[in-house]
Amino acid sequence: MQLFLDSASLDEIRAASELGFLDGVTINPALLAQQSRPLDQLVQEICALVAGPVCVPVRHQRDADIVKEARTLAELHDQVIVKIPIHEDGLRAMGRLHSEGIRTHATLCCTATQALLAAKCGAYYVSPFVARLDAIGSSGADVVLQILEIYDNFEFDTRVMVASIRNTLQVQEAAVLGVDGCTISWAVMRQLHQHPLSDTLQQNYMADWPRS
Ligand code: E4P
Repeated sequence: MQLFLDSASLDEIRAASELGFLDGVTINPALLAQQSRPLDQLVQEICALVAGPVCVPVRHQRDADIVKEARTLAELHDQVIVKIPIHEDGLRAMGRLHSEGIRTHATLCCTATQALLAAKCGAYYVSPFVARLDAIGSSGADVVLQILEIYDNFEFDTRVMVASIRNTLQVQEAAVLGVDGCTISWAVMRQLHQHPLSDTLQQNYMADWPRS
């Protein structure tokens, strides 16, 4: 299962990369708004820090504009995967880009039928937004499970990259369901290895060494 960092901060990406288990990076408009570097420069620098995919969002909303922007983003680096929201124009753009060999990441996914359409349009990744769904009284985990079943039923190649994650339990649940990956904030990534009992055991471990 892949673990991506959801961040545009070079410091966070560098630190996450040094942990040894980082598989890629996703960025979104809100994360980009926190950075001052031009997008093309930032993307190049992120690609230099990680070996895997770097998923970069498009700004445009009309299919022809999305396709044009996606081509430019894809040319920045061969690690770039173009993040496109799921809507009519977005789906049309995904299909065209797929036929050109440009990988896309279908984002803002809230239903299994949206994920079905993204797969049919050749998306490389699809991201169900679990915490956003949970927050409105739906079940993000149910949507993820439905997507996995549909992709299994029809042998779609699109990978399920769970997004909008707020805690480690959501990562664990996604892993149990068998998703292809999760994209998580630096705060959640740092919590993945933690447990209060582990802290106590570690203190005991150190205290137990014979005095020399
Ligand atoms: C994923 O690619 C998104 O950037 C991210 O997970 C967005 O989720 P949020 O806006 O709920 O944090």
